[in-house]
Amino acid sequence: MKTYKIAAIPGDGIGPEVIAAGLEALEVLAKSDGGFRFDVEHFPWSSDYYLKNGFYIPEGGLEKLKTFDAIFFGAVGSQEVPDHVSLWGLRLPIAQGFDQYANVRPARVLPGVTSPLTGGQEIDWVIIRENSEGEYAGNGGRTHRGLPIETATETSVFTRAGVERIHRFSFELARTRPAKHLTLVTKSNAQRFGMVMWDEIFFEVAKDYPDVRTDRELVDAMTTRMVLKPQTIDTIVATNLHADILSDLAAALSGSLGIAPTANLNPERQFPSMFEPIHGSAFDITGKGVANPIATFWTASMMLEHLGQPAAAARMMKAIETVTATKLHTPDLGGKATTAQVTKAVCEQLK
Ligand code: IPM
Ligand code: MG
Repeated sequence: MKTYKIAAIPGDGIGPEVIAAGLEALEVLAKSDGGFRFDVEHFPWSSDYYLKNGFYIPEGGLEKLKTFDAIFFGAVGSQEVPDHVSLWGLRLPIAQGFDQYANVRPARVLPGVTSPLTGGQEIDWVIIRENSEGEYAGNGGRTHRGLPIETATETSVFTRAGVERIHRFSFELARTRPAKHLTLVTKSNAQRFGMVMWDEIFFEVAKDYPDVRTDRELVDAMTTRMVLKPQTIDTIVATNLHADILSDLAAALSGSLGIAPTANLNPERQFPSMFEPIHGSAFDITGKGVANPIATFWTASMMLEHLGQPAAAARMMKAIETVTATKLHTPDLGGKATTAQVTKAVCEQLK
């Protein structure tokens, strides 16, 4: 029997609640499948841990993480630690350190879920976010602090290698989808260096994928297209920041941030990939037992797919959809169900 080593990092806020739910469902699924099992190790890295120890990831921590098949991540972000400190302390060192350059964010209106758009079933998108450079490259500085001449720079970094590999990844993914359609999103009218290079490389790579239809949209126009003509969109590729913003819009349009999953992939598999719900810590509902576990279940399905268990991944999706269709919904979806009730219902389906 195949054993997958999973590093669970529940992190902050509702992270521990949803990761516990996700692991419970994965356990049930593995038992009923019989062909594989999980060996899960928990890592306590969180903002509380940081406040006690002065670091999120201890010495040698990343080395240790490298020995796992996948990372199952909850959330990072706390009211007691500035957001840029927590982000650069935990999530970015893993995503960038493990070269998880392809961030995949599907958005779909699940059965029984109401989109704020009328006729919302038209949403079936995958957003691919460049996840290693761009606006999140961490390239900048601040001088003359507090003086009138204080200066700050935040320079995006776009490399040919980085842009080409995300485009290639996106074409490969678009090719596997029924519509085989890829939209390039940039802002190359105003930003004439990095963004223009993004466009150029996209159309160079496109020549290798004649079976994939393409078009391009400026990021501002893309927001209106997502709302007004959702059915014209299939797969999207965009920079780190643009796709960050568009993926929140996509999640909201598909019903709730509480269902949106993500995979931070190192496609070459030199390092483990990381799987996380995109909702974040959600302090307003932490500890109340009402966090929506669906994003984490969907995330778990993406992890199974990556681990080479497509049938199990599909079973997880089927279980999710069967349960959302019954309207057993947590408050973010307008229902009254608890995390535990939704988890139990999904586990019943998986048995
Ligand atoms: C996301 C989140 C993060 C990001 C935050 C927590 C820094 O919004 O995963 O989309 O911007 O990358
Ligand atoms: Mg975001």
